[in-house]
Amino acid sequence: MPVWRYMELCLMHPRYGYYVSRDPLGREGDFTTAPEVSQMFGELLGLWTASVWKQMGSPQLLRLIELGPGRGTMMADALRALRVLPPLYQTLSVHMVEVNPVLRERQKTTLSGVRNIAWHDNIDDVPEGPCIILANEFFDVLPIHQMVKQKNGWHERVVDVEAGGKLVFAAAAEPTPRFDVLLPPLVRAAPVGAVFEWRPDAEMMKLAARVRDQDGAALIIDYGHLRSDAGDTFQAIARHTFTDPLKAPGQADVTAHVDFQALTRAAEDVGARVHGPVTQGEFLKRLGIDTRAAALMQKATPEVSTDIAAAQKRLTDPGRGGMGSMFKVLCVSEPRLTSIAALSDHLEEDEST
Ligand SMILES: C[S@@+](CC[C@H](N)C(=O)[O-])C[C@H]1O[C@@H](n2cnc3c(N)ncnc32)[C@H](O)[C@@H]1O
Repeated sequence: MPVWRYMELCLMHPRYGYYVSRDPLGREGDFTTAPEVSQMFGELLGLWTASVWKQMGSPQLLRLIELGPGRGTMMADALRALRVLPPLYQTLSVHMVEVNPVLRERQKTTLSGVRNIAWHDNIDDVPEGPCIILANEFFDVLPIHQMVKQKNGWHERVVDVEAGGKLVFAAAAEPTPRFDVLLPPLVRAAPVGAVFEWRPDAEMMKLAARVRDQDGAALIIDYGHLRSDAGDTFQAIARHTFTDPLKAPGQADVTAHVDFQALTRAAEDVGARVHGPVTQGEFLKRLGIDTRAAALMQKATPEVSTDIAAAQKRLTDPGRGGMGSMFKVLCVSEPRLTSIAALSDHLEEDEST
């Protein structure tokens, strides 16, 4: 089967899929995300939301939508920060788009005091109206196609079964006709053997069309690259360690890096405005993470202060082990919004990681 179908089944098979049966987050789980590293992350996204709401002309009813909200931690922290702005806090409605029943339950516990909240399987089910959409580590779990370059063209990469039942990567027998035509020049020039990954544009086009037509903005935070390029980033993580993605289907988180150039192109194609991307480190600094960390540390014990400093470093540090430059932040808005808080410029090609 094609890699995209394998990835889809690993994550979403109704019985054995990774995301239908468990809470994978946190120290006891398989991976830790930015909202789980520190409350500062969600709080700063709350402030960002308030700023964008004002730029939108302070609409009376705002839908705050989160895609793939994990344990609900980011939304809880964002809402706490938004309390300082009663005209927004008291009128907004919260929409959680989540497919995982275990995480849904977890989110319901985390957000038990929140009024005006609803859960949805798909963003299409969220009622119309001005909205701000937040998506942290959502796009990386959407299935990718992998293509392998051979002498006679690009072949879809597949997962095959060897005698004895072992899963292996292979290539479809025939090349995909005229696949080259769709490729950016950098990828077209890749050597034989190169792998190119792409995701259907449908999800981004849906978000972009919604903010274009109904007033709003969507913030996408994920790990990935600025320019579409060849490279195999299909990976599996279990118990905080990289593992073979073919080894235990449905038992490990399988993801692939996000191509921010492809997201930008898809959003612009439907007429939305794109802001950024900037690195996560830069984004959080512009939103004031240093000031927030200092304020939290003032009231904390020495042990807790050490933890706050470590979290601040992890979220912003561009070096190994840090999320500062590996993660990028991109906003897609209705065209009238000409500038967006903390995203007024974008990264240049040579800053890509
Ligand atoms: C990597 S986790 C990120 C969780 C959270 N955003 C965070 O930062 O902690 C991916 C999230 O997306 C959800 N998810 C995966 N595929 C989805 C889909 N097609 N539609 C909605 N949610 C999805 C998962 O259940 C999970 O909540």
